[in-house]
Amino acid sequence: MKHTKFITLLSLFFLIVSCSNESTSGGPSLGSGNTGNDGDNNNGQSESIYYSPQYSLKEVASYYVGVGATWSRLTSSGSNYGSIVGREFNSITAGNAMKGSVTNPETIEEYNWEPGDEIINFAEENNQRVHGHTLIWHNQYPGWIDSFSGTDEQFEAAVEKYVKDVVSHYKGKVASWDVVNEALESNGSLRTNSPFYQRMGEDYIKKVFTWAREADPDVKLFYNDYSLASTSSKTQGVVNLVNSLKDAGVDIDGIGLQMHIRVDYPTNSTITSNVKTLTDTGLLIHFSELDVIVNDNGSLSELTYNAALDQKNKYKDVFEIYDETVPDDQKFGVTIWGVRDIDSWLNPNMNNHSDWPLLFGLEYEYKIAHEGIIEALKD
Ligand code: G3I
Repeated sequence: MKHTKFITLLSLFFLIVSCSNESTSGGPSLGSGNTGNDGDNNNGQSESIYYSPQYSLKEVASYYVGVGATWSRLTSSGSNYGSIVGREFNSITAGNAMKGSVTNPETIEEYNWEPGDEIINFAEENNQRVHGHTLIWHNQYPGWIDSFSGTDEQFEAAVEKYVKDVVSHYKGKVASWDVVNEALESNGSLRTNSPFYQRMGEDYIKKVFTWAREADPDVKLFYNDYSLASTSSKTQGVVNLVNSLKDAGVDIDGIGLQMHIRVDYPTNSTITSNVKTLTDTGLLIHFSELDVIVNDNGSLSELTYNAALDQKNKYKDVFEIYDETVPDDQKFGVTIWGVRDIDSWLNPNMNNHSDWPLLFGLEYEYKIAHEGIIEALKD
């Protein structure tokens, strides 16, 4: 017992020392944030936006805690980014590396597997699960889609080949796929501004799920979308979609709620109610792209302690809601959409101003948002 405590203390010491020694490598300039009024970490009462962690997320969690990762940052040598991803998370989603615009950028014949394979290699070395993202989306699709000059039947055959090629390439290496991403409007109807809808008709989702299953009988198949925690009409649209797939005998294993949320929206009761609706389908539930916006109206020029505290509390609430609302056998996990604030898709200048939506500062400092998650996971 004493020996275990000693090892734990020793690991903590190295964890803290390594974090404080790490430096960043370039990137656009985004303030590392205000360290608060007194910066005193000794009595646990300080008003700092950062803290010294005692635990990593993955060692405390009873389900998968993942990250949306950028392959080029993961693989650059001596990467602090890579050490944080390896240390904190036991699941990885490729932020971009497995999207059609990367894997199949120009012609249907030519594939670029390297970025996705690098993610797989990293995950294997770090004993992490990989979630595939994403096969069919109206953004970041293969380069040949827009210029396709054949008939609709030929288009459909080309999409089938693409889906089966990609699923087969990663067969046995990814646990799961976001098969279709963001196919619904906020009122729950099918999005029409998608080349897949326009050329294959409204059954395209059923077809794509069927092809993915044919290519890999074991991989978990997800439908993934945003605003599901906030918009009950869209949530109901997902339930209808799931039912229509099931009625047609098409496999679907899970639902991904992206969870791009704000500190003040949606409310916890709204999130809980929408998650409950989706949980009632009996499918796996993945909070797949969690980030918490703190500066929606652009009033902050740096991250203040109060904003960081609000954010900590929202992260904590979200993990508590996940824990309490989703039955254990439906918990696929929670994935945070990026590492440092500066790495977020919301920066730079998503709304012509900065935001600090993630768990790590510019120099990989641990934000108190991380502590909020630890508190939720340990409760
Ligand atoms: O790779 C090029 C690089 O060569 C070029 O120099 C650079 C110049 O801007 O762009 C790079 O590509 C960017 C890519 O991210 C990789 O960093 C694209 O411009 C940029 O549009 C792309 O943004 C991604 C975004 O999806 C596209 O919609 C974000 O990283 C990614 O986090 C984000 O993730 C999506 C999910 O997949 C689906 N749900 C919404 C979420 C947020 O948009």
